[in-house]
Amino acid sequence: MATFPKILVIAIFSMVCSLFWNTNVVDATNTGITRHYKFDIKLQNVTRLCHTKSIVTVNGQFPGPRIVAREGDRLVIKVVNHVRNNISIHWHGIRQLLSGWADGPAYITQCPIQTGQTYVYNFTIIGQRGTLWWHAHISWLRSTLYGPIIILPKRGVPYPFSQPYKEVPLMFGEWWNADPEAVIAQALQTGGGPNVSDAYTINGLPGLLYNCSAKDTFKLSVKPGKTYLLRLINAALNDELFFSIANHTLITVDVDAIYVKPFETNTIIITPGQTTNVLLKTKPYYPNADFLMMARPYVTGNGTFDNSTVAGILHYNHPKQSTKLRVFKPTLPALRDTSFVTNFTSKLRSLANAEYPANVPKNVDKHFFFTIGLGTNPCPKNRTCQGPSNKTMFAAAVNNVSFVMPSKALLQAHFLHQNNGLYSTSFPSSPLIPFNYTGTPPNNTMVIDGTKMVVLPFNTSVELVLQDTSILGAESHPLHLHGLNFYVVGQGFGNFDPNKDPAKYNLVDPVERNTVGVPAGGWVAIRFLADNPGVWFMHCHLEVHTSWGLKMAWVVEDGKHPNQKLPPPPQDLPKC
Ligand code: C2O
Repeated sequence: MATFPKILVIAIFSMVCSLFWNTNVVDATNTGITRHYKFDIKLQNVTRLCHTKSIVTVNGQFPGPRIVAREGDRLVIKVVNHVRNNISIHWHGIRQLLSGWADGPAYITQCPIQTGQTYVYNFTIIGQRGTLWWHAHISWLRSTLYGPIIILPKRGVPYPFSQPYKEVPLMFGEWWNADPEAVIAQALQTGGGPNVSDAYTINGLPGLLYNCSAKDTFKLSVKPGKTYLLRLINAALNDELFFSIANHTLITVDVDAIYVKPFETNTIIITPGQTTNVLLKTKPYYPNADFLMMARPYVTGNGTFDNSTVAGILHYNHPKQSTKLRVFKPTLPALRDTSFVTNFTSKLRSLANAEYPANVPKNVDKHFFFTIGLGTNPCPKNRTCQGPSNKTMFAAAVNNVSFVMPSKALLQAHFLHQNNGLYSTSFPSSPLIPFNYTGTPPNNTMVIDGTKMVVLPFNTSVELVLQDTSILGAESHPLHLHGLNFYVVGQGFGNFDPNKDPAKYNLVDPVERNTVGVPAGGWVAIRFLADNPGVWFMHCHLEVHTSWGLKMAWVVEDGKHPNQKLPPPPQDLPKC
C-alpha cells in the first residue's frame, strides 16, 4: 500500500462497510450520525527490513484502519480479541465527555479485553475537529496497534482555511525487528534501558534510507498547484521527531484536533501523542525532481536512542514522465536543537475568535506543581541490575511517586465505591521534599512506589506546573492528559518561579491540546477545567517512561446536575 486514496473514498467505503455490519442510525442527542466499526485483533505476518514477524494487528492491517467521522458523530467500535495478549484500545485525544468507560487505558478506566472477549467502545465526538488517533493502551502493544482518527467538521461547516484538494494521513511509527513485548519485558527485568527500535516508519514503511527497505517507501503522488492537507501523527514509542519536506513549505493549521493560527515553517517538531495538520502547497509546475520527506529524532536525555531517519517521497505525477528525476533532501535541525523546538512551540496559538474561542480558565481554584523525571528503584536482593548502577533499576516518577498499575480498573473501583486499598487519594500537590530541580542532582535518587490519585470536585479550575528534573539528566517529556484538554499558558527553562513567571502567562490565545512537551531542564504551565467526571490518566507519552512509572491519575467527581454525572458502566465492560 504505497499511496493513500482520497479521504472521501475511504469515508464512503467505511460507510458502505458499516452498512454491512449495521445501518447508520440518526442519533437523537446530536446532529451527527452513528458510525460502526469492527476491530478484530489478530496476528498478521509482516515483513520490514527483510525481517518477517507475526505482529498484533487490527483486521490484519498495519498500520490499522482509519476511522473517519464528523464532529458530532457517535462512534461504536466493536473490539474482538483473537490473540493471546490482553488488549485495550484508547482513542487518544477524544474528550470522552460523560463516556469515560470508553477511554481505554488498561487498569485505569477498564480491565483489559481478554482472549476471546469483546468490548464495544461507544462515544460521541464533541467540540473537536482535526486529527486524533487510536492505539493499544497496554504494555507496548501500541507499537503495531495504531491508526488515525480523522474528524471532519460538521456537514456544511468549512475549515477556517482554504479547502484542500486532498487529505492524507501521515503516521510516524517505530519498528523493532524483535518483538517489542520482549524488549520491554527484558528491560523491566534487568532495570536497564530497553533496546532501541530498528527503524522509524511513515504509514508503516521505513523507506529507502534503510537496508533492504527501498520497496517499503511511502510515496505521496501529487499534482502541481494544489493544496494538500497532511494529517501528521506521531505514533512512535519513544522519540520526538523533526519532519520536513525538501523545498516545500508547510503551514500548521491544527494541533491535537484544535485549530491554531496558521504559520509557515519548513520543519515541524511532533512528540509522541501529538497530531499536527499542515497544508502543503505544491509547486505551480512539474519540477523534474522528487522531494524526500524525512523524519528523525529530537534528542534530549542521556539514554541511547534510534539515530536513524525515515524517508518518504513527494512525487509529482507527470502524465508522461521519462527522464530520470533529481532527488532533493530536506535539511533537518540538529539532533539536540532545543532552540528550534522552543521557537516552534511558541508559535502555536489558538484562533481565540468568536467561532473558536479559547476558554482559558482565568481564575484558578487549585494549583499543582509536579516534578517530572527519572529516578531509581533498588535492585532486588542477590541480583545485579542494569540501571544507573548495578544496584539500581531505572524508574520514573511524578512528584517522586512512581505509579504502580493496580490489579483492577480504577474507574470501576471509584464508581462503585470499592476502593479496598486499590489506590490512595494522597497524591502530593507539590514535591514533599523541595530541591533545586534543574541543578546538581540530589544524592538520593530513589522513588516511592504507589497507586495514588488526585481528587478534583466537578468544575474545579486547575493550574498545573510541570517541572522537569535533572535527577538522571534533564530530558523533555511529552505529557499527555486523558479526558480533559488543557491550555499551555507558559513555559520556560530552569526552575519555575511562582513569583515572576505567572506574570508572563498567555491567557489570551494559548494553544489548547492534550499532549505537551515539558522542556528539558525547564517547565510548562497548563490550565484546565475539570468538567468531565471520571478517572483520567496522565502520563509521559514516551512509552519507556510510562513503563517506568511516569504516570498518575486524576479523579474528577460528578457534578450536581444529571448531565454532570458519569453514567453507569456498559454491560459488557471487561472484568479483571
Ligand atoms: Cu496516547 Cu494514555 O495515551
